Amino acid sequence: MSRLQLFPTSATIQENQLTIAGHDLSALAKKYGTPLYLYDRATMDFAAHDYQAALKKYYPARASITYAGKAFLCKAIAQWTQSHGLWVDCTGEGEIAIAKAGGVPRERILVHGVNKSTADLNSALENASVIVVDNLAELERISQAESRGAVSLWLRILPGVAVDTHHAHTQTGQHDSKFGMTREETREALAFCKARGLSISGIHFHQGSNFRDPAPLKQAIEVGLDMANEIGLAGEWHFSPGGGWGVAYHEDELPQPDTNEYARVIAKHVISGCKTRGLPLPHLHLEPGRSLVARAGVAIYKVGAIKQRKNKTWALTDGGMTDNPRHAMYGAKYSALAVSNPMGEKTARVSIAGPYCESGDVIIEDLPMPKLKQDDLIAIPASGAYHLSMSSNYNGARKPAVVWLEEGSARLIIRRETLEDLLRRDL
Ligand SMILES: Cc1ncc(COP(=O)(O)O)c(C=O)c1O
Repeated sequence: MSRLQLFPTSATIQENQLTIAGHDLSALAKKYGTPLYLYDRATMDFAAHDYQAALKKYYPARASITYAGKAFLCKAIAQWTQSHGLWVDCTGEGEIAIAKAGGVPRERILVHGVNKSTADLNSALENASVIVVDNLAELERISQAESRGAVSLWLRILPGVAVDTHHAHTQTGQHDSKFGMTREETREALAFCKARGLSISGIHFHQGSNFRDPAPLKQAIEVGLDMANEIGLAGEWHFSPGGGWGVAYHEDELPQPDTNEYARVIAKHVISGCKTRGLPLPHLHLEPGRSLVARAGVAIYKVGAIKQRKNKTWALTDGGMTDNPRHAMYGAKYSALAVSNPMGEKTARVSIAGPYCESGDVIIEDLPMPKLKQDDLIAIPASGAYHLSMSSNYNGARKPAVVWLEEGSARLIIRRETLEDLLRRDL
């Protein structure tokens, strides 16, 4: 049964069919077409409650959860964040526009980005409550803005410690990373702020994405608190050790990483680090993306052809690297269930590849599966984060439809792209 545990919490097998929130996936595929993305609200609610309960349990001062919009942002997801009172991390003016359209109020919009343009910064100054400054050039642009509104400035520091994410492309905290400021750069930024009358009210770092060992957080928290101490942050100040807590993509990675333990480790080190330095406890912000939405998302693909090779069986599907580039980008390992007869005997080792003109257009390699045939539907779990937000129109692919599932209702939240959409920007 364990492969089923990668799927949304509401996934069950009824009459030999995989279902989510009680919905018949074959009927949804028929109605909306494939490839199709499904989001299960109950799984997202469960994840948000988990984080909020853990913070309540371990952290005695103010604490907030910020949803990292880069994982996947659309109006419906933005609306969902507000049902839990979450802040939303927006990278640049594009995500700010989506968050606003989804009803996220200014006081819950926080803006990230490693090289924010003047347009990004102007949008942030107009619509957000926090800009997390990545570098001195951004500070210069901010200082030149006509009006700085009600925006608070936090500094993104480079702690010089990464977490184990299994791939260099998903690490951000190491010494040679492009993200954030070194200690010397942070000092320069502070001198600039002093000279221009800009005040800093928070410290942020983010060490990487999809890790399950919280140990390296301790060292980075120390670096962050040292910097807060040096700046002299006091009163209501903010501390954000980023996001990045992992999820299970494959049965080899089960059980799911424990959010409670992640929050406990952070809270413990922030509390003890503040005590040692005589700092007041900050408003603590955790910034998860993947661990709030990845498990809620399921991609449904249809098998179009089977090809037998010397040591390989290919199941060629109608979705692939244009809706999920993660295997192509960093070898992410996935699992799958057939929608019909999901627990059938695994007699084959199947590699699942998309229809695009790249040999790297592969989603899964050599997964034990029941024998698949043309027109079978397969469901890929943990598809809710960094799939559609990184999707492309390669080969003229049209981005899939997205359906929001609750018990008793299935609602189209993003329609499938059309040929007209593909040509919309051509002049
Ligand atoms: C600044 C920042 N915060 C939060 C996140 C969220 O990471 P995850 O979705 O792995 O939780 C990211 C991801 O890259 C990030 O860059």
